[in-house]
Amino acid sequence: MKALSDGRLLAAASFVRPGAVFADIGTDHAYLPLHLLQQGRITRAIAADIGEGPLSRARAHIAASGMAGRVETVLTNGLQGLEHHGLTDIAICGMGGELIVDILSASPFVREAGIRLILQPMTRAATLRRYLASEGFAILAERPCRAAGRVYTCLCVEHDGVRRTLTPAEAEVGRPLCESEEERDCFAELLARRITALQEKKRALEGASLTDEEDEALLAALLSLQQA
Ligand SMILES: C[S@@+](CC[C@H](N)C(=O)[O-])C[C@H]1O[C@@H](n2cnc3c(N)ncnc32)[C@H](O)[C@@H]1O
Repeated sequence: MKALSDGRLLAAASFVRPGAVFADIGTDHAYLPLHLLQQGRITRAIAADIGEGPLSRARAHIAASGMAGRVETVLTNGLQGLEHHGLTDIAICGMGGELIVDILSASPFVREAGIRLILQPMTRAATLRRYLASEGFAILAERPCRAAGRVYTCLCVEHDGVRRTLTPAEAEVGRPLCESEEERDCFAELLARRITALQEKKRALEGASLTDEEDEALLAALLSLQQA
């Protein structure tokens, strides 16, 4: 099996606890559970997907890896039917933030003590962060990451019941761990991308003699983060 090179999935793998009862939701090719098994980080996994096509891709990769006895494939929507599998660590990667919110909302068992969620939104990370904060999930850590030349983020989350209010800047870009040069570069790029988008919007509004005070405040907060 080829070594995993996708920075998103490597960031997700870094948050999985050794010995976890692990499920990968929206597994597609099953690269993440196979990587974790190969690393000896976990001994068994569930690879779940809503699509028969992605799941057959997963089955083919699992068979080729020689780990067929250690990965159970499940055709399901989100976490439906996985309530009683004793899961401890659940990854939902490579989906939009809104879809991740829908999946979490439909499965209240993700709030049980001892369950860790590893969430990697492709879009709408701010929507996801706001949902987590308002629903009593603690963002324990967040890693900026890169895949196919684009930057993303990966969140490590557990429910503690404490409802939090995020500042607009915290919702937009999080408070990531930037432990390596690569993570610092990724975060700088995420920040710069958001700042550019807000500056472009500001210029367009100015052209129509309008202002958006919330965006102005967010832009100022992100610019000061950039200079910190
Ligand atoms: C872009 S792929 C991501 C694959 C892998 N997780 C990754 O990050 O590289 C998204 C996968 O999520 C699956 N998916 C979409 N909605 C889902 C849902 N509600 N429940 C389970 N899987 C879903 C799709 O079928 C697809 O295989």
